[in-house]
Amino acid sequence: MKIIIGADHAGYSMKEQVKAHLQKQGVQVEDAGTHSKESVDYTDYGKKVARKVSDGTFERAILICGTGLGMSMVANRFRGVRAALANDLFSAIMSRRHNDSNILVMGGRLIGDMLALQLVDTWLDTPFDEGRHKRRVEKMDIE
Ligand code: RB5
Repeated sequence: MKIIIGADHAGYSMKEQVKAHLQKQGVQVEDAGTHSKESVDYTDYGKKVARKVSDGTFERAILICGTGLGMSMVANRFRGVRAALANDLFSAIMSRRHNDSNILVMGGRLIGDMLALQLVDTWLDTPFDEGRHKRRVEKMDIE
């Protein structure tokens, strides 16, 4: 599996934890930055990652900022992107089962690293339910 991950300064340390965790599991991780705690604009990193999901380079991605709000707003402007802000397990699971989310967004200032790792594992392992949910998801893109 291949994943692209990005964060701003508020998500940087969580990104590093998530990256190491995934690499330990043999997941190939492309790190889109940021690469330090120096203040940056979440929009730049959100766009960088969402663009690569939208164009099909990556099927799945992870974005982290302080709350997860800015990253999810930016990412969801890209066609084909279904970014789910999920700081709890139920949202992470349902975003896969019902919404076929392709980007997991988390708030680095809201949740701890251990929960983040659990959210990532669960989100990656949960399949899309298909069926009626497929029809609904297909109606998301505005022509
Ligand atoms: C950065 O201070 C903060 O605004 C950002 O990480 C994020 O929470 C935006 O939605």
